[in-house]
Amino acid sequence: MNFELTEEHLNVQQAARDFAQNELLPGVIERDELGKFPLEYIRKLGELGFMGMMVDPKYGGSGMDTISYVLAMEEISKVDASTSVVISVNNSLVCWGLETFGNEEQKMKYLVPLASGKIHGAFLLSEPEAGSDATSQRTTAEDKGDYYLMNGTKNWITSGNTADTYIVIAQTHVEKGHKGINAFIVEKNSPGIVIGKKEQKMGIRASDTHSIMFQDVKVPKENRIGEDGFGFKFAMKTLAGGRIGIASQALGIASGAMELAIKYSKERKAFGTEIKNHQAIQFKLADMATQVEMARLLCLKAAWLKDEHKDYALASSMAKLFASTAAMEITTEAVQVHGGYGYVREYHVERLMRDAKITQIYEGTSEVQKIVISREVLK
Ligand code: CAA
Repeated sequence: MNFELTEEHLNVQQAARDFAQNELLPGVIERDELGKFPLEYIRKLGELGFMGMMVDPKYGGSGMDTISYVLAMEEISKVDASTSVVISVNNSLVCWGLETFGNEEQKMKYLVPLASGKIHGAFLLSEPEAGSDATSQRTTAEDKGDYYLMNGTKNWITSGNTADTYIVIAQTHVEKGHKGINAFIVEKNSPGIVIGKKEQKMGIRASDTHSIMFQDVKVPKENRIGEDGFGFKFAMKTLAGGRIGIASQALGIASGAMELAIKYSKERKAFGTEIKNHQAIQFKLADMATQVEMARLLCLKAAWLKDEHKDYALASSMAKLFASTAAMEITTEAVQVHGGYGYVREYHVERLMRDAKITQIYEGTSEVQKIVISREVLK
């Protein structure tokens, strides 16, 4: 077993680190404060190949492996989780599903611009009454011959307003339950799509999260992904990969907060010495470092399994469960290390603590990850 990263991996990691530190860091507090979407940076990340990292170059992607994706997600999330969630959704939930299950025409038309980062996409699964219980889809897509007629409401959609292309999960045969669900490619400017209000969130405030209403939206028949009834499996398989992205985001938030706590402990003096010399602080840093290492190993293992074409659903749920819990604990402790300074906006740990919370909620709550894991161990 070899735990060493290749030179290629180290180069990707360094490129993501440079971008995060040089481009994203300077304005991150202001974007969070104003809820300002980082569009200019998303497009630059597209030019650098970070929006379709694992997609075959013939479809506009960078042809990298999932390990590179984990490394990039960690570096960007250390600084700016609002930007990294857009990267994660586009790479994992939009591009991966299209490349894996889309047909050639769909890939040429939709995947190429998404993977090359000219536009970005959104994944529309959650509904007012179908969050964790994803089989209870109420959005319908009625077969009308050469098109589907879509009606319903989706909630908490990351990039709901800024994305150009949606992947929408909808019910086509209500009587068939989850076997009557399909996935569709829907262009955001289709007549009948209404963008709901922007959510005012606790964290990842610079990302745009909206509800989306479908009112008699005509979706061409050729925009259905896969065989009739494949939509729920499509969503579950896609989310299994997406959870590696969010686990890596949580890892980045955790390691970013830890690095800030270490730096601060070397600068701040109390009781006649730098606080790093107090055992109360040393124990916190030791716990943080151990949790970060464990989260990183779980993320990389899930990525490695995916790259090896082995089953990774269990590993990705474990990585997400552990890394998101660690992110919440570590950011809370990093604020504690900073004392009063940690509670104010100009110190980045305050934002990281708010950003950490969402990693325990989206792409399946921690409880959903436990359902996936316990079902597997009880098999
Ligand atoms: N791969 C392939 N198939 C899978 C699968 C997987 N990983 N997981 C489940 N399935 C299949 C099952 O085999 C089953 O198929 P059959 O009936 O043919 O056997 C079918 O899907 C139904 O599975 P379950 O019976 O396990 O379904 P369930 O209703 O018990 O739910 C669940 C399972 C894990 C709780 C699931 O509903 C779930 O993951 N919920 C969370 C949804 C979620 O993550 N939402 C996030 C929204 S997207 C988002 O957050 C994006 C963003 O903004 C960042």
